[in-house]
Amino acid sequence: MRAVAVSSFGASPELVEVPTPTPGPGEVQVRLEAAGVNPFDGKVADGMMEGAMPHTFPLILGVDGAGTVAAVGDGVTRFSPGERVFGQFFHAPVGTGTYAEYIVVPESQAITTLPAEVPAVVAAALPTAGMAALTMLEEVGAGPGKTVLIVGATGGVGSFATQLAAAAGARVIATATPAAAERILRYGAAEIVDHQQAPVADQVPAGIDALIDVVSDAGTFAANAALVRPGGTAVTTVFVADVDALAKRDVRGININAKARPHLLDRLAAAVIAGTLEVPVEAEVPLDAAPDALTRIRAGRANGKTVIVL
Ligand SMILES: NC(=O)c1ccc[n+]([C@@H]2O[C@H](COP(=O)([O-])OP(=O)(O)OC[C@H]3O[C@@H](n4cnc5c(N)ncnc54)[C@H](OP(=O)(O)O)[C@@H]3O)[C@@H](O)[C@H]2O)c1
Repeated sequence: MRAVAVSSFGASPELVEVPTPTPGPGEVQVRLEAAGVNPFDGKVADGMMEGAMPHTFPLILGVDGAGTVAAVGDGVTRFSPGERVFGQFFHAPVGTGTYAEYIVVPESQAITTLPAEVPAVVAAALPTAGMAALTMLEEVGAGPGKTVLIVGATGGVGSFATQLAAAAGARVIATATPAAAERILRYGAAEIVDHQQAPVADQVPAGIDALIDVVSDAGTFAANAALVRPGGTAVTTVFVADVDALAKRDVRGININAKARPHLLDRLAAAVIAGTLEVPVEAEVPLDAAPDALTRIRAGRANGKTVIVL
């Protein structure tokens, strides 16, 4: 089968021909139709998980995907051949990813049935970013009467977090350049802050209830978190929160490591079907264009999600 992989940590991703994996006991083989691109994919290619999990090379990239179950191994009970599924397929060994025509995963993985109403491209854009958004909103208790600042609102995680926080009744202040502002306002943001004009912390009054920041370095995160009132919460997806320093101001700092769960995927798909969650697919690309797509995502200038169509 065709796949996009790196031959070693830090190498450039390239299109490769590899044997099609077959399912063992407890595993499902999925014929992928679409794979979502995440910044995490590039970090894995650089060796982020080295030492934490076993790896296999050539390391096929990608964790998010959607497709159809092609075969199942002995003892599989959750899925049957012909069933459409989507989810986060990240599992050990790292290197058997979704930038490929087929993937084999344990059936216990964070995958779930894909409802007929949701196209594969849309489903593949949801898992990692959507589950992170849901997890963070639960942590900050976004709801009526709460003001939440979302930094990085125009990307994958931020687009979902903005919509889900606004739908939960929170007042959302979101970062966006003028080119993306209309989309973020449509998502229910009450106010837009242009992060390219001036530091966010200079543009937002102190006293917010929560900060969700998916892009800032430690210094900028600390400045943004200084806007959070005592008793509030400041969350980062890039592990830069000084939890002890924040605790001294009675702010709960969280370095989130979002756990993937099938029930979260079901919630995301239900929101898409209900029309309450728009999935901004910025680009659909063929597999041989995946290396370039990943390079663009790694530059940090996403305006929605990029999806590989297989
Ligand atoms: N820890 C976890 O569990 C977890 C889970 C999911 C994701 N993550 C991480 O979270 C980060 C974000 O993921 P993602 O999928 O949302 O990324 P993404 O889709 O690439 O989006 C990043 C967005 O941030 C914006 N941005 C860049 N610099 C900014 C700044 N200084 N201020 C405000 N906005 C800025 C970019 O838009 P502009 O061009 O308009 O600036 C872009 O839209 C990644 O590092 C990812 O690996 C972690």
